[in-house]
Amino acid sequence: MKYKGSGRFVGFYLYMRKAVMLLDLDLIQDICVKDFGNFTDRGYYYNKKDDPISAHLLQLDGNHWKTMRGKLTPAFTSGKIKFMLTTVVNIADELVNVLEETLSSTNMDDGVHCDNLMVRYTTDVIGSVAFGLKCNSLKEPNCEFREIGEKLCYYRYSMPIVSLMNLFPNLFRKLGFKIIIEEVSQFFFRVVREAVDYRDRTGEQRKDYLNILMELRKLNTADNLTMDEITAQAFVFFVGGFETSASVLSFCLYELALNQNIQEKARREINEIIAQHDGKPTYEAVKEMKYLLQVMYETIRMYSVVPGLVRKTAEDYIVSNTNYVIEKGTTVIIPLDAIHYDPDIYPNPEQFDPERFTKTEVENRHPMAWLGFGRGPRACIGSRFAEFQVLIGLSSLLKNFRFSPTKRTQIPIQFIKNKIFRGAEKGVYLKVEKL
Ligand code: HEM
Repeated sequence: MKYKGSGRFVGFYLYMRKAVMLLDLDLIQDICVKDFGNFTDRGYYYNKKDDPISAHLLQLDGNHWKTMRGKLTPAFTSGKIKFMLTTVVNIADELVNVLEETLSSTNMDDGVHCDNLMVRYTTDVIGSVAFGLKCNSLKEPNCEFREIGEKLCYYRYSMPIVSLMNLFPNLFRKLGFKIIIEEVSQFFFRVVREAVDYRDRTGEQRKDYLNILMELRKLNTADNLTMDEITAQAFVFFVGGFETSASVLSFCLYELALNQNIQEKARREINEIIAQHDGKPTYEAVKEMKYLLQVMYETIRMYSVVPGLVRKTAEDYIVSNTNYVIEKGTTVIIPLDAIHYDPDIYPNPEQFDPERFTKTEVENRHPMAWLGFGRGPRACIGSRFAEFQVLIGLSSLLKNFRFSPTKRTQIPIQFIKNKIFRGAEKGVYLKVEKL
C-alpha cells in the first residue's frame, strides 16, 4: 500500500538478498506467464543428496522442477481426482460423526475448536490419498501423523538462517545442511517404504496418488522415479495439501459464522444439489455448487494461505515501459495480500462478500487480481483437488450443522506470525448446533 502507484515495482533487501516487489498486475502477468522462462525458479534451499525429502516440487528449481512437474501433472487430471473422491466423501462422513460426538462434551460458551477439527479432516484425507493409510486423526487427535504434521508447519531454522541458505545454496549443500527436521524425514521414509513394500508384496492396486507414483517407479525410461523421489513427492502432497486446505476451511467457517445470511444461502444451495445426488456431496454434486465455490474463493481472497508468491530472476530482465532492469538472481515477490485487499480492485476489502466471484465479476477484473493458487506454469498443482477437498468438507458440515460466534471467538481474527501457512492466533472457536 505504501508504494502503490509509485511505479511498476519497488526494490529492497530481504536480509542480504536483492528483491523486488511487483506493483502492477500487467507486470505480474508478464513474469508469471508470458516471460515465465526467465522466472521458473523460487530459489528456495533444498539438498537432494543429504536431505532427499527436501527435493520436492515446491522447492525444486530449473530442469529438476520441469521434469518432476511433467511427471506429476497427469496425477492431477479430473479423471484421477474423481477416483480419489470416494475416500474424501467417506472421511467427510466421519468428520460429521466426530463433530456430532464432540457436541455433548463441549462447553458451548467457548465453542468447538474448529481449526483443530479441520486439520484432522485434511490430515486423514491426504494420508489416505497420498499414502494409502488410515491416519485416524479424526478419531485419535494425538496420533503420530498429527504430531509430525504439527512439526512441519514451522521453520527448522530462524528466518535469517533460512535466508542465508537461500542466498548461498551451494555452500550450505557442501556443508550438508538439511532443511527438513530429521524426525519428520525419517517418519516419511518409513511410512512410504512400508506402504510401497506392502503393495509390492500383495499386488494391491488402489486408485490413489501413491499408486500413480509407484507406476512412475516401474517405468523403464528416463521418466522413472527413485524411492527417494517417490518419498519426496508423497511428502509434498502432505505439505501442500493438509495445512492449506484446513486453513481455508477454518477461516471460511469463521466468516460464515459472522455472516449468517451467507451461511444460509450456501446451505440452501448444498441442500438443493445434494438432494439430487442421493444425499451425498459426490464429484458431480460438488461441481454444481457454484455459490459454495464463490464462498471458497472469497475466503482465499481474505485469507490467502501464503502472503506472497516468490520467483527468482534467471537472467537480467528489462522491465517494459520503464528504464529499469531486474538483475539476474533477484528475488521477485508478488504481494498477494496487498492485491487482494486493494480497495480499487475489491471495494470494502475487509467485508466478506462471495458475490465478488460471480462469473461476470471475475470476467470484469484483471486476470491477476486473484492469485490464491498462484499463476502460470508454477501455480498450485493441487488446486482442483483442493477445491474438492474443501467443498466436500464444507458441504458435509453446513448440511448438518449451524456455526456461530461465541465469546471465545477472536474478532477480528489475528494470525500466527511464524507459521509457514496462515493460521489463527487463538484458534477458531465456534458454537456448533446440530440441524
Ligand atoms: C486451498 C488449498 C490450497 C491453496 C490455497 C494452495 C495455494 C498454493 C499457492 C499459492 C502456491 C504457489 C503458486 C505459485 O507460486 O504461483 C501453491 C503451490 C503448490 N501447491 Fe498448493 N494450495 C492448496 C492446496 C494444495 C494441495 C491439496 C496440494 C496437493 C498436492 C498442493 C500442492 C502444491 C504444490 C506441489 C505446489 C508447488 C507447485 C510447483 O512449484 O510446481 N496444494 N499452492
